[in-house]
Amino acid sequence: MTAKPAVATAQLDIRPMTGALGAEILGVDVKALDDAAFADIHQAFLDYSVLVFRDQELTEQEFADFGRRFGKLEEEPFLPNKSETPGVYYFFGAPKNADKLSTQKLGWHMDHSYQKNPSLGAMLYALDVPAVGGDTLFASNYESYEALSPTMQAMLEDKIAIHDVLQYGLNSGHHSIGTTKAIEMLASMRKKFPQTEHPLVCKHPETGRKMLYINKAWTTAIKDLQPHESKALLDMLKEHSLQDVFQCRVRWHNKSLLLWDNRCVQHSPNSDYTEARRMLRLALHSDWVPGT
Ligand SMILES: [Fe+2]
Repeated sequence: MTAKPAVATAQLDIRPMTGALGAEILGVDVKALDDAAFADIHQAFLDYSVLVFRDQELTEQEFADFGRRFGKLEEEPFLPNKSETPGVYYFFGAPKNADKLSTQKLGWHMDHSYQKNPSLGAMLYALDVPAVGGDTLFASNYESYEALSPTMQAMLEDKIAIHDVLQYGLNSGHHSIGTTKAIEMLASMRKKFPQTEHPLVCKHPETGRKMLYINKAWTTAIKDLQPHESKALLDMLKEHSLQDVFQCRVRWHNKSLLLWDNRCVQHSPNSDYTEARRMLRLALHSDWVPGT
């Protein structure tokens, strides 16, 4: 791992968050970027995987416009709170203790890895957030791959993993499976998204960098291994991939804008806050099929 130095391009002041990934971009207004400044931001997105912009004054439309500079916005069939701007959703946090049956317990995941085309990335914009808590954590799947021994890397090279929306949903309690309605929603998601296979080692389609393509939530088995072999290997890889040294942590303030590259990071929303919070969310579509 090489610590990334702070960089000032012609337009940007880039402050890396950790030696692994993540950067804060200072001194920009994301709704007023010329093509050269946007090109620098896009390069920073590829270099750091997670970008944070503070004190952005954005309408829903301006939030969507910035998202569209990275790619097509993705419809989210299971997110209930559509805004009036196509592709933009209200994202309401579930504060701790408000409803003990439905607190968020999703933990580490990559959005939609159980689909053939997982999301390119996602953006969140804080409208009204508690002063403390609700940090979003990220872990670099590049760094976890690169830290494996060459022997383990070679062993994993041709292995295929199963990604499944159902099993983790049932196990995690994220969908409050104490209710019939939640079980029905999970079943309808599984019907829409059957199990998907992705290689365990993938190359990022834009950077070309190799990564360990797993996430704690949806990667449920390794194909062609005995169940106990698959479990032992996956448990080890998941624990390995979520070590502190591969992580960064984003703290929220009102008007903070967060963007991450869902193709190469796992993320985990922390539910350690007790007041309601409101954000805007959008997801970026990708035609990339992992492994290609
Ligand atoms: Fe997510």
